[in-house]
Amino acid sequence: MAPTLPSRRLRGIARAVVAAATLAAALLVADVAPSRAATAQSCDIYASGGTPCVAAHSTTRALYGSYAGRLYQVRRSSDNATRDIGVSSAGGYADAAAQDSFCSGTTCVITIIYDQSGRGNHLTQAPPGGFAGPAPGGYDNLANATAAPITINGHKAYGVFVAPGTGYRNNNTNGIATGDQPEGMYAIFDGTHYNGGCCFDYGNAERNSRDNGNGTMEAIYFGNIKVWGYGTGNGPWVMADLENGLFSGVNAGFNANDPTVNHRFLTAIVKGEPNHWAIRAGNAQSGGLSTYYNGARPNVAGYNPMRKEGAIILGIGGDNSHGSAGTFYEGVMTSGYPTDATENAVQANVVAAGYGAGGGGGGGLTPGSSVSLRATTACCTTRYITHSGSSVVTSVVTSSSSSTDKGNASWTVRAGLANSACVSFESRNTPGSFLRHQNYQLFLHANNGSSLFASDATFCPQAGMNGQGSSFASSNFPSRFIRHYANNVYIASNGGSNTFDATALWADDVSWVVTPSWA
Ligand code: AHR
Repeated sequence: MAPTLPSRRLRGIARAVVAAATLAAALLVADVAPSRAATAQSCDIYASGGTPCVAAHSTTRALYGSYAGRLYQVRRSSDNATRDIGVSSAGGYADAAAQDSFCSGTTCVITIIYDQSGRGNHLTQAPPGGFAGPAPGGYDNLANATAAPITINGHKAYGVFVAPGTGYRNNNTNGIATGDQPEGMYAIFDGTHYNGGCCFDYGNAERNSRDNGNGTMEAIYFGNIKVWGYGTGNGPWVMADLENGLFSGVNAGFNANDPTVNHRFLTAIVKGEPNHWAIRAGNAQSGGLSTYYNGARPNVAGYNPMRKEGAIILGIGGDNSHGSAGTFYEGVMTSGYPTDATENAVQANVVAAGYGAGGGGGGGLTPGSSVSLRATTACCTTRYITHSGSSVVTSVVTSSSSSTDKGNASWTVRAGLANSACVSFESRNTPGSFLRHQNYQLFLHANNGSSLFASDATFCPQAGMNGQGSSFASSNFPSRFIRHYANNVYIASNGGSNTFDATALWADDVSWVVTPSWA
């Protein structure tokens, strides 16, 4: 149940909404005037608590009741054109239909996540730093714009799907805490999408993308790396990345109060002020927040006082380490140390926003169901994804096919081995073996339990690129989709360097109708 706010606080929120509307009108050049009375959203609530947002990022919704501007920008691969995606109405939800129409039949990446606070703290492709990224010039990759579909209050929207190598950053910010100044931050993540790479972070980092020593960062971390800190269970954990250390409490290493937490939609909070900081978290779909740590700075040299530098990162470590995976939906950074009461009200606002799974091309893909996957290219509409031993091809299957052929074309849908928001396909007639890619080609291999296998065998469904059925993005190469080419099956990008990346027929070849299984 949403916490009840004292009436003084409610009046404060009302004042903050008016103030936010005025600020937005003054600062947001590209924005549209609100058309209805504003409802207090996360950043209005922080403002009413005296700790206003100085950065507000979301690809799913407005974080101010009056915000009517841009949420993010996408770029499509067919012609490199870009399009800003805004909200459908002031204070409302992302206009995902605009993205779907712009990206129809091609692929899109998220190029900019706009700052709604009016301070211009937008996030763009992260540059090289201590580590070079995999994209040209040492930049990090940009996220596939369609790999993390969800619903929010019943409206379709997309999150920011971070596969290893993906990262966003702003090294030239305005108003973000520096030195030992107080700040707070929250983010909504997919609690089922994480890994043990360094470091899926959102928050304050170095302005030169390098490791500048203990205390030069203060960011939310989410994942199950145990190199630095960890909590109970096997992870994932919410921790604070303070540079050269992910902290789950006052101690380096283990702290017993930081539990494994993996809600599908996870609210994660880190905040810090002189010799004091906290970790909090909760289920973004219901209930309140729990406090996992609230106390003094770590008992390790270099973290008191802090030397925060005020850049903002998403999906990477402070030195541009980019081995991590995760999904981000929204997050803010504040000026000042928010009270628990303010954060509890923000959590109630997030719960009321109504995050839900779904929104993708997942029709017929319920875990446990048995399916076959039929090609939609005109040449091949009687061909299905089939295995013969470990090789995977498309082959014609009809009602008069042998039971072996039908079995070879039948798959049990499993929750994605690397990300339960996505799916994996287990062979019906070879239980324990899954479709996985290796050198970009699909094979049927026995699950060896490794995290590489899990990633290689996880595919994220979305609406079919040619308007039919579903397309399946590779979880660890999200710009590549399951494609048939000369009757073999690959994960293919649209226009990459391999013959099977050919642009001709790409949208058709990556679109599959999910049917009840042949066997
Ligand atoms: O603190 C953990 C990580 O250590 C930081 O994110 C990175 O800058 C460094 O490698």
